[in-house]
Amino acid sequence: MMTAQKTKENLFDVTAVRQEFPILKQRIHDKPLVYLDNAASAQKPCAVLSAMQQFYEQDYANVHRGVHTLSVRATEKYEEARETVRRFINAPDVNTLVFTRGATESINLVAAAYGRTHLKEGDEIILTQLEHHANIVPWQLLRDERKITIKIAPINQSGQIDLEAFTRLLTPRVKLVAVTQMSNALGILTPLKEIIDRAHALQIPVLVDGCQGIVHHGIDVQTMDADFYAFSSHKIYGPTGIGVLYAKAALLESMIPWQGGGDMIENVTFEKTTYKSAPHRFEAGTPSIVEAVGLAEALRFVESIGYEKIIQHEQSLLQAATEQLLSIPGLIVHGTDKNKGSILSFTLKGTHPQDLGVLLDQQGIAVRVGHHCCMPLMQHLGLAGTCRASFAIYNTLSEVDALYQGITKALRLLR
Ligand code: ALA
Repeated sequence: MMTAQKTKENLFDVTAVRQEFPILKQRIHDKPLVYLDNAASAQKPCAVLSAMQQFYEQDYANVHRGVHTLSVRATEKYEEARETVRRFINAPDVNTLVFTRGATESINLVAAAYGRTHLKEGDEIILTQLEHHANIVPWQLLRDERKITIKIAPINQSGQIDLEAFTRLLTPRVKLVAVTQMSNALGILTPLKEIIDRAHALQIPVLVDGCQGIVHHGIDVQTMDADFYAFSSHKIYGPTGIGVLYAKAALLESMIPWQGGGDMIENVTFEKTTYKSAPHRFEAGTPSIVEAVGLAEALRFVESIGYEKIIQHEQSLLQAATEQLLSIPGLIVHGTDKNKGSILSFTLKGTHPQDLGVLLDQQGIAVRVGHHCCMPLMQHLGLAGTCRASFAIYNTLSEVDALYQGITKALRLLR
């Protein structure tokens, strides 16, 4: 068996990367912190922390509202952040990008604005068995309001979307497909290109939930031809409280506003209000200004490493972790498809994931246990939950070893 130590050397200097993340230096329960809960939220590099502090210290004011110098400067930095996002996901135009509170809000925006503009009773949308609650519940709210039908594309034994079954669900009544790029619970990378091409053959738009996919594999929204793409900043090393919705220009312009307030209007009287064009039409109220600056810095940080190195490093961690953990008697990995990002979900026969999570925490190891905001997926798998180790660019092969040792120690205590 190939162990973590024997896996080929990493292709970038992970020690140097770790220096950028002060939080990783601490000890938890007197053990070095091993942070493997990156799918829930990633830690932040110094570049992001100092860009935000500097902005607060030197540039902060409200945006789009003032003639004074600080407001102009803050507006420029906020809009520069939008341009950084545009470059990062290769969107055709900054006006196709709406800043939101996170991917959840991005999807709620589409459900509310696209849904209320374009969907009517009898229409259908397709989700998949892999979706997390953020890409399920907004559609259920719309279903209850508009009397539409939600259809679920099934997955196969390996946890991958069954493409043929998905294709059979595509009918003229379907008005939207909403699918994850990468499962947060199982790590499966979905066949996005095939899904989008097959939906587009029937002129059906596709929303891609990029929460995990953008972190571990990146996206080119034009090559992929996604109609909507949603992601959160906090999973890609940026601050909480901000996310992005990309939408094709014609779709965005066709949609009614979903929240009203300042900054999204052209003219207001008590009788009638006219709205700005996109993206500002969808950004009511004071936005997360400093967080936008932090997100832009996080994206520059990822660009400075590059996805080629990120993927190689994270895949070496995933491979080592999978091989080591599978050597533990009674351990079952959930999600075995070969197309996987660096998320490893597992259960141990006779052990509750919650107990394992607590015992790992006592050894300084942070994992997520439970349903991972994917209750329907867990029900489908017949599980109450799993234990999930999710790896980021700053994780090391030694930490994979620590996880392996941690689980074997926990098992000795539990059995
Ligand atoms: N959706 C987040 C996760 O996967 C919170 O843990």
